[in-house]
Amino acid sequence: MSEFKQLVFSGVQPTGNLHLGNYLGALQKFVALQDTYECIYCVVDMHSLTATLVHDDLVEQTRGIAAAYLACGLDPKKNIIFNQARVPQHAELAWIFNCVARIGWMNRMTQFKDKAGKDRENASLGLLAYPSLMAADILLYRATHVPVGEDQKQHLELTRDIAQKFNNDFSEKIANLGYGVEMMVGEEQVNGFFPLTEPLIEGPAPRVMSLRDGSKKMSKSDPSDLSRINLLDDADTIARKIKKAKTDPAPLPGDVEGLAGRPEADNLVGIYAALAGVSRENVIEEFGGRQFSEFKPALADLAVEKLAPIGEEMRRLKADPAYIDSVLRDGGERASVKAEATMKQVHEIVGLLAN
Ligand code: TYM
Repeated sequence: MSEFKQLVFSGVQPTGNLHLGNYLGALQKFVALQDTYECIYCVVDMHSLTATLVHDDLVEQTRGIAAAYLACGLDPKKNIIFNQARVPQHAELAWIFNCVARIGWMNRMTQFKDKAGKDRENASLGLLAYPSLMAADILLYRATHVPVGEDQKQHLELTRDIAQKFNNDFSEKIANLGYGVEMMVGEEQVNGFFPLTEPLIEGPAPRVMSLRDGSKKMSKSDPSDLSRINLLDDADTIARKIKKAKTDPAPLPGDVEGLAGRPEADNLVGIYAALAGVSRENVIEEFGGRQFSEFKPALADLAVEKLAPIGEEMRRLKADPAYIDSVLRDGGERASVKAEATMKQVHEIVGLLAN
């Protein structure tokens, strides 16, 4: 029985500054996966047009994300690192997926509801169709694993729904052409062209919360800069933001269950665990019963140790745009070879006369 080749794909939008949530939810995992998987990491610049069409500095921002990938330790030879706009097959497959996905599926996406706000009629069609493009990013390479933060879980479920509907709708064609791959769906063995991708969300900090409000996600768009640690913050700023982070007056609990109902404490323990590469239980074993006045300086030291060198390296790389562009160009060429091969088969399956 042939199986899908294991392949990791993920992407980050070049909009706003990268922060600790992006690092712990995504980049740190990207780096860990490069040792065991073939990986493709994309700067998804076309996604950035969905919420805001006109950007002053999209090229600069695109290079900035690539610089962050490299500064975190991704090897551009081992992995494919590129920006989406270089491989037009992303948009082409997204169009086909727009015809596979149902409007009802898109309307249910919480990210669409949040970003469109009250005036949904006025949101761009691209914002509504965003998850189709995301599914295309992943499935263009028939990727089997996608490391992301918890906020992307719903989009990945939709990616599976799209893959499954495509596989079902074209099952005969796929079988006749011999393009199917055997896979298990629940108890059933089926033959499909696209894999049902697994999200990789686990870890101690799948959803990093704002440092000012433990009920809100840490985000690029929060007006308060104190709510997040940016990857470009210097050591003093990182330490200051952690010391100013909101907490409650009680000491840290003696067990992990004691973090329930204490969102700010829970968030800081999760951040410590993820940065140190240990479990939340390990953090509580070390700091349970201690005051925040002791825990926060330890967390600040750890965050500075892990993050400040990344920020420095990002600044160094950003000063060399020609190098960044050469990495993205080389990655784009390697991604294109794979993208063309998939689309050739998709054209045949769908019945588009393009070859
Ligand atoms: P984006 O650019 O908003 O975020 C990039 C990554 O950072 C994660 N993340 C977080 N993780 C934990 N806590 C947080 N507070 C936090 N904030 C952000 C996100 O989950 C994401 O992994 N739609 C995606 C980009 C995308 C993509 C793809 C991802 C486009 N195509 C294909 C994977 C595969 C997005 O907007 O992520």
